[in-house]
Amino acid sequence: MNGESIIPKHVGIIVDGNGRWATKRGLPRSMGHKAGAENLKKICLYLDEIGVKYLSVYVFSTENFKRDNKEVDFLMDLFVKMFKSEFDEIIERGIKVVFSGRRNRLRKEVLEAMDYLEEATSENHNSCLNICLNYGGQSEIVDMTKKVCQMYKDGEISLDDIDVELVSKNLYNDLPPVDFLIRTSGELRLSNFMLYQASYAELYFPDIYFPDLTEKDIDEAMEEFNRRNRRFGGN
Ligand code: IPE
Ligand code: IPE
Ligand code: MG
Repeated sequence: MNGESIIPKHVGIIVDGNGRWATKRGLPRSMGHKAGAENLKKICLYLDEIGVKYLSVYVFSTENFKRDNKEVDFLMDLFVKMFKSEFDEIIERGIKVVFSGRRNRLRKEVLEAMDYLEEATSENHNSCLNICLNYGGQSEIVDMTKKVCQMYKDGEISLDDIDVELVSKNLYNDLPPVDFLIRTSGELRLSNFMLYQASYAELYFPDIYFPDLTEKDIDEAMEEFNRRNRRFGGN
């Protein structure tokens, strides 16, 4: 990376194409998820290394429960294993891990592994990894709305206090806006990811299945980000 490049403060990644990566190789989809999980760790560490302060990764949507039980179970077991035994480097690097999403429908073991990781990194401040698991942008807005309505009902806020900042603070996590959103696999859609936070994100859709995404691809993505002219509605 060139020293003068701007590094986006908040990067979002929609981890996609694990299944097709495996199918292309004649492997079961689960092997794609395994390869994707290994690569995710590498990509998270690399983005931290180049100076990205906030990284949100979309690993399981509220809609992904529509998949067959075997695939959902495999993914949940994989999350437990990863969070419990494969995040040592992330913990040691001083990366704070937080989760976004609904806790309902997640098994006890998954919730315990998530709580363990949040707890183990709660004093970390170098950068922040936001793992979006059982996450949906629409559900997040619904849940924020309920929270804000309750605050109003309890007399903690007045109607005039409700603004962009208050809404943002009451989402699952209080994070800065997403600057750069990467979705692998060539699909050109958001699939319910960070609908509020990505309002002015630059979008990037590399035609690469996630397990194949390399550090060099990230460098290319960053170069592309630096070519974009962000106007935020101005001239
Ligand atoms: C992304 O890969 C991982 C999850 C959504 C959990 P997919 O499983 O969506 O892979 P494709 O899109 O079917 O190839
Ligand atoms: C989006 O990918 C969700 C995650 C990456 C976790 P999907 O593969 O579920 O999205 P669709 O179904 O292609 O829109
Ligand atoms: Mg997919």
